[in-house]
Amino acid sequence: MLQFVKIFDTTLRDGEQSPGFSMNVAEKIRVAKRLEQMGVDVIEAGFPVASQGDFEAVQAIAAEIKETVVAGLARAHPNDIDRAWEAVKKAERPMIHTFISSSDIHLEHQLKMSRKEVLSLAVRAVKRAKNYTDDVEFSAMDATRSDREYLAQMIGEAIDAGATTVNIPDTVGYAVPGEFGELIGYLVENVPNIQEAVVSVHCHNDLGLAVANSLAAVRNGTRQVECTINGIGERAGNTALEEIVMALKVRKDLIGLDTRIQTEQIYPTSRLVSSITGIRVQPNKAIVGANAFAHESGIHQDGLLKNKATYEIMTPETVGLSKSTLVLGKHSGRHAFGDRVKDLGYDLTGDQMEKAFQAFKNLCDLKKHVYDEDIEAIVADEIIQIPDKYRLTFLSVTSGSELIPTATVQMEIDGKVIKTADLGNGPVDAVFKTIKRITGDTSNLVRYEVDAITGGTDAQGSVKCTLEKDELTVIGHGRDTDIIVASGKAYINALNKLNYKQNYLATDMDRSL
Ligand code: KIV
Ligand code: ZN
Repeated sequence: MLQFVKIFDTTLRDGEQSPGFSMNVAEKIRVAKRLEQMGVDVIEAGFPVASQGDFEAVQAIAAEIKETVVAGLARAHPNDIDRAWEAVKKAERPMIHTFISSSDIHLEHQLKMSRKEVLSLAVRAVKRAKNYTDDVEFSAMDATRSDREYLAQMIGEAIDAGATTVNIPDTVGYAVPGEFGELIGYLVENVPNIQEAVVSVHCHNDLGLAVANSLAAVRNGTRQVECTINGIGERAGNTALEEIVMALKVRKDLIGLDTRIQTEQIYPTSRLVSSITGIRVQPNKAIVGANAFAHESGIHQDGLLKNKATYEIMTPETVGLSKSTLVLGKHSGRHAFGDRVKDLGYDLTGDQMEKAFQAFKNLCDLKKHVYDEDIEAIVADEIIQIPDKYRLTFLSVTSGSELIPTATVQMEIDGKVIKTADLGNGPVDAVFKTIKRITGDTSNLVRYEVDAITGGTDAQGSVKCTLEKDELTVIGHGRDTDIIVASGKAYINALNKLNYKQNYLATDMDRSL
């Protein structure tokens, strides 16, 4: 009988906590719904004690998700566990995920506690969580740099205390595959009650080995893998969901295990995360990169024409890429447009669909071919954009070889309309100065990047700008056929993110573990 490996998705927790990947509550809900539709077993929705914003996001996701387990992260502190429960308790299938470090280096330098003290905290944390819900995961942080016997003892005691899943994280991305697989084998052999829990792994990608390590763990008894869409996450990221899922699917002949993921949903989900965060996937990224299925070499193309199996180990259709090359244009009707919007993972109301269709028609007047990226830009930026503090309502720029660039900008700030003008060293500088003048913004612009989201001179421009203020960093993004307008949108998007972070994510968490 075919066995399944559970997929525990932590895009909204480990993924979202890395710089530049932050999402607001509405965006997190969209990602969570998409993950549920794709068939993940667990959605780790956030770290409720970290901030009010995190708490509210986890609570909102718990209320929205019906089938999938919703987990909230908590350190092995009573207050963290209570807060995590408050956030997930309305979920149909709530889970508390509690963790504490197990390596001597963390115990000595960070926790400043003895092994005995840490063991007792771990057990108390699991018991406290268990009073709230049956479904409790325990993680031994920095497991791969821990003393094996101590780790085995901690895992065994966590299971005795009621943990239903025990997670072995490679927190610092230090392990290599053979060694990690062997560690899992050791725990399976040496923790007497291990059969009473699901063994999970959570790998970071510092050496580029997160997927390989997860796979090695699966081959040695792990039945849950923690991962993120596009491999986003702390530092070099986490195990990429799309890679581990497709590795198990493509190599079922060797490994004999599968997941419950609807793999056709992989590509749209990857696109959704990249479109919300504004961070593009590298072109050569396995499974979801723009070149992942592009065969350039003549010899390969020749082979493919004769028989696809010569150079293709999986079809693009399996990961949901089949129609992505379908180009729409001004002759495309409502039906084709609506189908494409749905395939891209957006569930719009009748009104929203009508508005999106009109915006699509307007875009067709500006550019001949409309690609998926263009449709995402319309839907994500214009149709389902949640009301923000700052809104751009008008922008006009004059510039040229003999002119001093001048921008006129009109904005709404909390609904109040303000319009003014300013000069700059170039059109973008003029726009940014005018926005600063209107909003009184004092942040530093540390990076400004321009990209074309599709080919051709009529391509939509995509602009990213990174602002820093009071140790907070945000990346704003904006898209438009006019690069100057895209720049204004990106700046304002960054200001909204900064405002959100300052108001909702100002953490009051005591960072000592
Ligand atoms: O990397 C890590 O150890 C974690 C734990 C909280 C599971 O993210
Ligand atoms: Zn992690």
